[in-house]
Amino acid sequence: TKKADLLPPLKVAVTGAAGQIGYALVMRIASGELLGKDQLIELNLIETEAGMSPLSGVMMELEDGAFPLLSKVSATSNLNEGFGDIDYALLVGASPRGPGMERKDLMAANAKIFAEQGKALNESAGINSKILVVGNPANTNALVASENAPDMWPEQFIAMTRLDQSRAKGLVAEKANVPVKDVDRVIIWGNHSATQYPDLSHARIGGKWAKSIITDDKWIRNDFIPRVQKRGAEVIDARGASSAASAASAAIDTIRDIHLGSPEQWLSNAIPSDGSYGIADGIWYSVPTVCEGDSHYRRVKNLPIDEYSAKMMNATEKELIEERDSVRHLLPGHENKPV
Ligand code: NAD
Ligand code: LMR
Repeated sequence: TKKADLLPPLKVAVTGAAGQIGYALVMRIASGELLGKDQLIELNLIETEAGMSPLSGVMMELEDGAFPLLSKVSATSNLNEGFGDIDYALLVGASPRGPGMERKDLMAANAKIFAEQGKALNESAGINSKILVVGNPANTNALVASENAPDMWPEQFIAMTRLDQSRAKGLVAEKANVPVKDVDRVIIWGNHSATQYPDLSHARIGGKWAKSIITDDKWIRNDFIPRVQKRGAEVIDARGASSAASAASAAIDTIRDIHLGSPEQWLSNAIPSDGSYGIADGIWYSVPTVCEGDSHYRRVKNLPIDEYSAKMMNATEKELIEERDSVRHLLPGHENKPV
């Protein structure tokens, strides 16, 4: 692309930029995979004080990559500076879990990070910004950040369940022996946790109803669903560290589709519940969405839900309500009363 064709810079903040996911993420953002190959980017990298030294190495590598789309890179541990006028923020910085832990075991250490970041985003982020929460437990962290950002729309905060959706698509493709691009309309409902419900009721393989091709319901219930639910732990057991490159990839996919649009797809995103499907208001619950581009998305409504799906959807809703109750001290105005 000629320089004259490039779009004026958009500002992207990444927290935890020197961590495992951050390292994979920033290189791909810099190369134009997040916002398009004609979009100039200003990157604001945010780390803790202790993270500033490794982050300076990441800055050197970004410089050494000579990325033509990168118009500016800055590093800071000051949130208001890092979130100043941003268009997108990817909130990755938080502790990861180790073997034998559930993601909600991270709540005590991580949720307060998102209270602080919500406040700073409220003061400093661009008016139409979109915020992707990756740090775990992602859904409840998004709730905490949003509740601490009273001047922002809750819909500006999205918790990432795209990785779960991609994992589910991968397993379906393997089972049906087709390329993954032939699989669509796989849905992740609820929490990015072991209670999530990966749902094939509406899925298609090569445009045909997936359940007419994968007819083995036992495989769906006893293999597919638990495998997707526990894939994060499977990776931790194998790698000795939680997924990083695939998580970065899913974060790129999420924001790219929100920014540029992908209207033909159903994309799973955890967004504030509006009561659709009988799900309680005020929790970040993963649903199928359609990304229309220019940062607009809408949920897919009125899908028929069978008895098994309803049971699975309720179980993950219940967990999210319990998680919300456990962080009430971080929700301004709700410290002493139910939300
Ligand atoms: P990591 O430990 O390698 O990196 C985390 C980085 O965040 C570190 O460099 C740390 O210094 C920094 N950090 C910590 N607190 C911070 C703060 N308050 N502000 C700014 N930076 C801060 O961990 P990782 O493997 O990159 O994982 C990051 C998070 O993402 C974890 O919580 C992990 O569980 C989660 N995760 C989520 C998904 C998902 O699908 N939603 C997938 C994978 C990992
Ligand atoms: C994942 O799904 O890989 C991440 O949430 C990391 C984890 O703890 O499983």
